[in-house]
Amino acid sequence: MEIKKVGVLGAGTMGAGIAQVCIQAGYNVVLIDIVPGIVDKALAGLDKAWAKAIEKGKATAEAVANYKTLVTTSTDVNDFKDVDLVIEAIVENIDVKKKAHKQLGEICKPEAILASNTSALSITEIAAATNRPDKFVGMHFFNPVVVMKLVEVIPGIVTADETTQTVLEVARKIGKDPVLAKESPGFIVNRILVPYMNEAANVYQEGIATLEEIDKAMKLGAGMPMGPLELADMVGIDIVLAVCEFFYNEFGDSKYRPSLAFKQKVRAGHLGRKTGKGFYDYSK
Ligand code: CAA
Ligand code: NAD
Repeated sequence: MEIKKVGVLGAGTMGAGIAQVCIQAGYNVVLIDIVPGIVDKALAGLDKAWAKAIEKGKATAEAVANYKTLVTTSTDVNDFKDVDLVIEAIVENIDVKKKAHKQLGEICKPEAILASNTSALSITEIAAATNRPDKFVGMHFFNPVVVMKLVEVIPGIVTADETTQTVLEVARKIGKDPVLAKESPGFIVNRILVPYMNEAANVYQEGIATLEEIDKAMKLGAGMPMGPLELADMVGIDIVLAVCEFFYNEFGDSKYRPSLAFKQKVRAGHLGRKTGKGFYDYSK
């Protein structure tokens, strides 16, 4: 099936970036968040990014004017009724995702594909909550979406090959270089990256070094583009903790035990860049 119109559910850190790359690839995009004001914030972010692109000579004013005609926003999921593909990027919680996709199945046209940007959860389980498990697939983007080239494409056990191929094609059209991964907690990248961030939080919790020293050590000693605790702040500590908890429960292995430092930050509402405070303070 040819994808022409894409729905993006959730306009937070990831949804806004996913909408941006889809628009820039020429798709019509409907961006929806149930919390009023979030889509306006996302649109303001897109305007800022596009203004910067014009300034740097990376986009023309005509191209940006065209981008703006391709996007519509809403707080009502019924506005997804004519999209060909929905990419969901809402909270990392299995019950919330199952409920949202069940509703999307009832709203979207029968041939539409539903995709989840989940960081770790079971594609098969979310698919089973819908009326179209064969048209359900994992489509996992990386933060910052505009910069990171990877999309992991994860078929569930009943995903049709045609669904997987269509979504691989969409990923390529938006300038990404996709990899296929079998369904397993955290797929490829997060299975490796999240325990790394968790261990860094343990090193911090044990007082082995300061935040700055831990991040500096991993940048200078291991060639990481940013330190693990800076990265947790960029991803959102709530997301990292949700993935750690899922690994711990799903694998039943103590090596995935979530760091107390993550739990304390989330309990305090210090989720990282998005709340202005996480391991570091972004309020100034
Ligand atoms: N949003 C949009 N664009 C951004 C950005 C952001 N948050 N941060 C940087 N950029 C852009 C800059 O505008 C710049 O663009 P131009 O070349 O057009 O000027 C470009 O990226 C490079 O920026 P900088 O030179 O300022 O920064 P950098 O070279 O230090 O790179 C980085 C920034 C790409 C974020 C780099 O530090 C990096 O790769 N960090 C690791 C990111 C990572 O690991 N992501 C995966 C997280 S895990 C995940 O996403 C999965 C999950 O499920 C949790
Ligand atoms: P976020 O907290 O920045 O944004 C989530 C948005 O979803 C919020 O604006 C919220 O209002 C909205 N929302 C919640 N429930 C909703 C519903 N039922 N319907 C519509 N909107 C709803 O989160 P995020 O960082 O963008 O993460 C979104 C998803 O992407 C999660 O599954 C996360 O695991 C995954 N992910 C995150 C990252 C990352 O680095 N942050 C990277 C890859 C994947």
